[in-house]
Amino acid sequence: MKTNLSSTTPSQLETDCLVVVTLDRSEKDRTDKDKDRDKDGEKGAPSVESADAAVAGAAKEVLASGEVTGKTFETTLLHNPTGLKAKRLLLLGGGKAKSFTATELRKLAGAAVRTLKGKSLRSFAFVLPESGIAAPDAVRAIVEGAIIGSFDPGYYKSKDKSNNNNKDQKIEALTIVVPSGDQKSLESALEVGRIIGESQNFTRDLVNEPSNLMTPNILAERARKMASEVGLVCESFGADKIKALKMGAFWGVAQGSDEPPALIVLRYDPVGAVDKVHLGLVGKGVTFDTGGISIKPADGMEKMKYDMAGAATMIGAMRAIALLKPKVKITAVVLATENMPSGKAQKPGDVQIAMSGKSIEIINTDAEGRLILADGLAYARELGCTHLVDAATLTGAIVVALGYVNAGIFASTDEMYERFLAANKQAGEKMWRMPLDDEYKDLIKSNIADMVNAGSRYGGAIFAAMFLKEFAEDTPWIHLDIAGTAWMEDNKPWIAKGPSGIALRSLVEFVKGWDS
Ligand code: BES
Ligand code: MN
Ligand code: ZN
Repeated sequence: MKTNLSSTTPSQLETDCLVVVTLDRSEKDRTDKDKDRDKDGEKGAPSVESADAAVAGAAKEVLASGEVTGKTFETTLLHNPTGLKAKRLLLLGGGKAKSFTATELRKLAGAAVRTLKGKSLRSFAFVLPESGIAAPDAVRAIVEGAIIGSFDPGYYKSKDKSNNNNKDQKIEALTIVVPSGDQKSLESALEVGRIIGESQNFTRDLVNEPSNLMTPNILAERARKMASEVGLVCESFGADKIKALKMGAFWGVAQGSDEPPALIVLRYDPVGAVDKVHLGLVGKGVTFDTGGISIKPADGMEKMKYDMAGAATMIGAMRAIALLKPKVKITAVVLATENMPSGKAQKPGDVQIAMSGKSIEIINTDAEGRLILADGLAYARELGCTHLVDAATLTGAIVVALGYVNAGIFASTDEMYERFLAANKQAGEKMWRMPLDDEYKDLIKSNIADMVNAGSRYGGAIFAAMFLKEFAEDTPWIHLDIAGTAWMEDNKPWIAKGPSGIALRSLVEFVKGWDS
């Protein structure tokens, strides 16, 4: 999607569709402009978020009808709007004015794309709302949301119209209508939004692929190609290196599959980087999780192609980082493998020695993510990382705890949490902190080894995080459990059903926070 800014007066802009936000304003939020309209007989009508009176004029009749309330994602489409050069006017409800932020605006832009592409439009113009969001933040949110909204997971649908193929229905161009003034800061906000939106879709592309077309080595190849395009160093290693590094936990999982594993390392080391900070991003890249010998039930197993979402998030975040160029040293470590049952597969009761030297009794071979991450965290520490973040579709238990709405954040220090939270708020992604109290440590005791890889069903997401903590050791660390949020279970107005790209925006914002 092409994106550009225009400071043409909205009513004078020639476009297939002008999109304007309407906000629900309760009595006390009403501005003088709203009150003027009240006198015209549109009492209680939502505000029309454009400084151009001609836009409100075009909407006057439909507002007076009471049909428009401004509630979130409400769409009202007018053809040949009076006094506007646009062919259509889309009034898009943004909800309560009081709680309208860049997060809501991002979703509205996605909803605009998804609504208009269904009507076979190719381009539209979005008017920057008047609502008090700083203009650069609003521009960025609109671009991000529009790009995220344009993602279509129907890759392998053939051209046959009968199967609802909508491949040809794509929004090709988006114009953001901004007030004239500081064009430079708005242009750079547009560019940032584009990089982040496209990187999130890059991640979603990787996650969307089925496991036969996204093996560990295909993932490595995609990472390498991206790295060469954006100027990152990328290395990928196979079984020999994994064994030479004594990654017994990672290999324990990988040994069961005929598909060779890949250890992928992406490096970003800018000149003038801040001192003494080296961030490590570790991603779970299980390209298919059958459960191994502790095999999963058939029902829903097809979804386990997305068990590499953590890896894809880290690879996509590195893409954004390489293009945004924050002055911080960052290394991504991605562990890619299948988890398969076979004559070579590890078995319950086996003991594996992890890279750090700790021994692990395998109780359940389906608890494989924590095994590969154990060695990933140890390796990132060995590479000199001073702060760690991992992302993983790690546990069904996080879905029990937080549903499909929030991702789980586990933080080893409050300082890491505060930093991450600030980034997360800015990014507008839903996440919730989970505990890591020492009392949970008893859960991971083994009779025969240093720890077990699985235990009681209760507190399962916390168990997994406590296990990982043993390998992050004293390095400040954040663990993101995205099992419930990496895949949208349903279509939403702003985003398609399928891979969500969750955590990428928070991670990129978190990384930028260290550049100062
Ligand atoms: N990949 C799964 C977790 C998962 C569940 C991801 C649902 C996405 C959606 C993970 O490897 C797993 O199988 N975890 C087990 C652990 C258990 C055996 C201790 C689980 O959560 O059931
Ligand atoms: Mn599993
Ligand atoms: Zn898994």
